[in-house]
Amino acid sequence: MSDPNARPVLTTTAGAPVADNQNSISAGPRGPLLLQDYQLIEKLAHQNRERIPERVVHAKGSGAYGTLTVTHDITRYTRAKVFTPGSQTEVLLRFSTVAGERGAADAERDVRGFALKFYTSEGNWDLVGNNTPVFFVRDPLKFPDFIRTQKRHPATNMRSPTAMWDFWSLSPESLHQVTILFSDRGLPQGYRFMNGYGSHTYSLWNDAGERYWVKFHFKSMQGIRTWTNKEANEVIAEDRESAQRDLYEAIERGDYPRWRVCVQIMPEAGAEKTPYNPFDITKVWPHGDYPLIDVGVLELNRNAAHYFAEIEQASFSPSNIVPGIGFSPDKLLQGRLFAYADAHRYRVGTHYEALPVNRPRCPVHHHHADGAMRFDAPRGTDHYYEPNSFGGPVEAPSVKEPPLRIDGDADRYNHREGNDDYTQPGNLFRLMTPEQQQHLFNNIAAAMQGVPRFIIDRQIEHFRRADPAYAAGVAAAIGRIHTAPASAPTTAADVGQQAAD
Ligand code: NDP
Ligand code: HEM
Repeated sequence: MSDPNARPVLTTTAGAPVADNQNSISAGPRGPLLLQDYQLIEKLAHQNRERIPERVVHAKGSGAYGTLTVTHDITRYTRAKVFTPGSQTEVLLRFSTVAGERGAADAERDVRGFALKFYTSEGNWDLVGNNTPVFFVRDPLKFPDFIRTQKRHPATNMRSPTAMWDFWSLSPESLHQVTILFSDRGLPQGYRFMNGYGSHTYSLWNDAGERYWVKFHFKSMQGIRTWTNKEANEVIAEDRESAQRDLYEAIERGDYPRWRVCVQIMPEAGAEKTPYNPFDITKVWPHGDYPLIDVGVLELNRNAAHYFAEIEQASFSPSNIVPGIGFSPDKLLQGRLFAYADAHRYRVGTHYEALPVNRPRCPVHHHHADGAMRFDAPRGTDHYYEPNSFGGPVEAPSVKEPPLRIDGDADRYNHREGNDDYTQPGNLFRLMTPEQQQHLFNNIAAAMQGVPRFIIDRQIEHFRRADPAYAAGVAAAIGRIHTAPASAPTTAADVGQQAAD
């Protein structure tokens, strides 16, 4: 037992010592209370402000710090200092599920977020990826619609399988990601047992000004481990924080999770030659054409000390890149370049990047000084604008990205026209073992319970176009699993009832 006299005195936020932290000030022993009891008011008022809006997607998550160790030389592709051979860079990695709210159970079938912040010597590089190499939509105009189908129905306040399958069956570009989601990999045993992917095509550029297109891969060195639906239900019944617990406890006992970091590289001109659009996030680059190149090892080795400060307030944005790393024409990526920093300014606050978890580990010089939450005092100077005659930071032309040639008329191009949405999902289906295929059929059939027949039929046609055996397997599983014939819901309440079934 420590000496109570050695403990610091409790204070108000203004630093004044608190004499009594058990009893409010009342007029007589029975009350009422006095408005002058500022200690009470401060406690209640702070409690009212202890939450910030949760992330609109990826609200439930877990994070930890670690290091990227570069073991291989890719400096011929990029001048980014984070890829200096032999170097180590501190990272923060936040995992998440997508659809559930902050209190959702971890062991749910869903895509997992894999958001990395590399605190490099040239600024923060955020690679905000998932545990899947592809995504459901390829145009950011469709992202809010897609997310609505994953969230709660406006009338029933329940999730709606009808909305999900309606949207997916009307958006064939989703088939690749849907196939992954309902495969074994759609339900990882924990964050340590899954791969991560940058998913988008990004770019690298070197000192000679040459550009390469790149995809980032993080291959779990713990191996892939997944739950079946039944196993996951049993896990959730016992423990809603199974992935959080697994990650936290592994790091506490020194069993640090690691991922092999790899890239796929395509020369800039190569993008004209692939039979698919290499900037389409619903497509992978086949390993046979673009083999994985080793870069290094990512290790997580330190838990956060304060979850709210360090994980809830962690603010990742694909717009955070560093010299030697660039974007690509990928339309979905372009939309994301706006969305994240906008979310942070709203959700966390104007100066979110000055918070300890987000603050770059290199010097920061900019003129965005004023606004809510300025909690340090920059020295007043005469060079608070640029250009000026009095000193201060100046631009660095040496880090200018090489120009990118683009062409074409500005228009709204139909991204569903002439786009092969079936070959790659079919390839994935065909590389599964018969047992894995059977799991896929069963998982899809289970998720389609209560969905109107015309939507199921529309979706089965997509499966058929990927592979006739895919469609036949799902149809057979529906015949086995569905207890009642699917019918068209007539009211919102019907939809909700079906979602609950
Ligand atoms: P390969 O045989 O070289 O690679 C197959 C890949 O599929 C491996 O990366 C494997 O991951 C992964 N995989 C296996 N089962 C699943 C699953 N249920 N969900 C997601 N990924 C899985 O083939 P190709 O490169 O020619 O690609 C064939 C298909 O594999 C693609 O159409 C795509 O669907 C899928 N895929 C391809 C990736 C790529 O970047 N090329 C990446 C991930 C999937 P692991 O090595 O960890 O076992
Ligand atoms: C979180 C938007 C596509 C991965 C978010 C957030 C928004 C958002 C607004 C919440 C940010 C916050 O409040 O902190 C979008 C839009 C997309 C898109 C508009 C498409 C146009 C994607 C894709 C991926 C992805 C394709 C993966 C490849 C993530 C991850 C998070 C996230 C991992 C959680 C980050 C964290 O842990 O804080 N997204 N997203 N998103 N998104 Fe996206």
